[in-house]
Amino acid sequence: MVIEKICCIGAGYVGGPTCSVLAYKCPNIKVTVCDRSKERIEQWNSPKLPIYEPGLDEIVKECRGRNLFFTTDLDPAIIEADLIFISVNTPTKTFGIGKGRAADLKFVEACSRKIASLSSGRKIVVEKSTVPVHAADSIINILTANTRPGVEFQVLSNPEFLAEGTAVQDLLNPDRVLIGGEQSDAGRQAVEDLCWVYQHWISRDKIITTNTWSSELSKLVANAFLAQRISSINAISALCEATGADVSEVAQATGMDSRIGSKFLQASVGFGGSCFQKDLLNLVYISECLKLTEVASYWQKVIDMNEYQKSRFAARIVERLFNTITDKTITILGFAFKKNTGDTRESPAIYVCKYLLEEGANLHIYDPKVEPKQMMTDLTSPMVSVDPEKVRELVKIYDDPYSAAAGAHAIVICTEWDEFVRLDYQKIYDTMLKPAFLFDGRKIVDHESVLEIGFHVETIGKRVTRSPLLRADPA
Ligand code: NAD
Ligand code: UDX
Repeated sequence: MVIEKICCIGAGYVGGPTCSVLAYKCPNIKVTVCDRSKERIEQWNSPKLPIYEPGLDEIVKECRGRNLFFTTDLDPAIIEADLIFISVNTPTKTFGIGKGRAADLKFVEACSRKIASLSSGRKIVVEKSTVPVHAADSIINILTANTRPGVEFQVLSNPEFLAEGTAVQDLLNPDRVLIGGEQSDAGRQAVEDLCWVYQHWISRDKIITTNTWSSELSKLVANAFLAQRISSINAISALCEATGADVSEVAQATGMDSRIGSKFLQASVGFGGSCFQKDLLNLVYISECLKLTEVASYWQKVIDMNEYQKSRFAARIVERLFNTITDKTITILGFAFKKNTGDTRESPAIYVCKYLLEEGANLHIYDPKVEPKQMMTDLTSPMVSVDPEKVRELVKIYDDPYSAAAGAHAIVICTEWDEFVRLDYQKIYDTMLKPAFLFDGRKIVDHESVLEIGFHVETIGKRVTRSPLLRADPA
């Protein structure tokens, strides 16, 4: 079957960029991206897109209104589509069975029911969302139980591997595309149909086809392995701080072994983002349900280490500031979970702020891309504080880093934005209270030069500060 019309349900961080690149590379295919959020769709149709991704504006500008459409009107888009991507959120369950660990598939199920009720003829339904293994079973069940005579569905798994901040590049030039399908003639044909779409810009040797369950599981495994590398190097960072080794040197020496590789060995305040923790928890839950206790506890440790790293860093701020930060002013540079995105989901900055707010600190926050409203929503959520009024009193949001740092006792770098590397730290130092502290949670500042300026410097996986008062030598 030739795919002429594609519908995508979910215009979020995955659905929006993925379908924009698809429309850009396949001008012969009409792509309609749907979302139930009116606000989000209005933003996709406006000059200011709802998400920040380098290179995305240009692509959307070129395709929008040509073969790329954003709408809340789901029904006609489903009816006319040959292929439907389900790209809705699959968050960790917050209640009921599997609370705090299992993936909540209610949005995926709602999409399946909608598709079943509207479809006629042959449709390919594609799981783009990250789901537990065998989620495709539930989708097929719902589709076949609700379908009318003459309708034929094929369900494929086609997980997305893009990372935020580099989504456009990742989509234009992916390491691989993974498509899982039913091991039958109709299943194989549907896989080939989706391969044809990707082959508009991706060579066939980069497209892997597997059975459905391998594809679903591979997505969780890829994220688990990436997160595991970060937790591994973060564990080593604690060892470096205790021994005087430098974690960057250790990472370089270790990563140059071609069997290990150098990527994802950047020690940090901890990993964030909407995927790693959620997908690890999901893997742990699946393993527990299958009574694979050791497997579950092995992967749980990756999350535990990440919690340890965040709390270790936050506790060090209090400790170095003479064990009290009540009424002190601390400047937080960076609130997004990584650079080049405005996304704050599971951002380590939220954890650090929560910790400092509980100790009664005043926070001055600056981030180049996160909307102030988003920061306040995050910090006043019940997960962070039981007293949102108090948070509003203690937190001030700034639109430039210099004003945010004026009069502060300490600066804490939580996101590795390039602009933080190039700041005029002398200018910042001059306006701060003394002794002035710099906590570099991303290891991006030239520590020697800020030490020269007069800062007391603390970072991850390396002893920097020279003051004997502030750092007793364990020897
Ligand atoms: P998101 O929250 O940004 O977007 C999901 C969108 O789906 C929302 O706008 C929501 O309004 C919409 N939606 C939910 N139910 C709907 C329904 N019934 N009808 C219409 N719209 C509906 O989520 P995201 O970050 O784009 O992630 C989507 C999926 O992709 C998740 O499963 C995630 O794990 C996976 N994923 C995310 C990333 C990432 O970097 N964010 C990368 C790879 C995979
Ligand atoms: C991740 C996966 O990389 C991507 O393939 C998947 O599709 C979605 O989840 P994302 O969460 O967008 O992507 O960003 P990523 O670059 O993986 O970073 C995740 C977190 O780990 C960030 O907080 C980042 O700062 C942190 N990180 C990353 C480190 O602390 N050290 C590293 O070496 C790499």
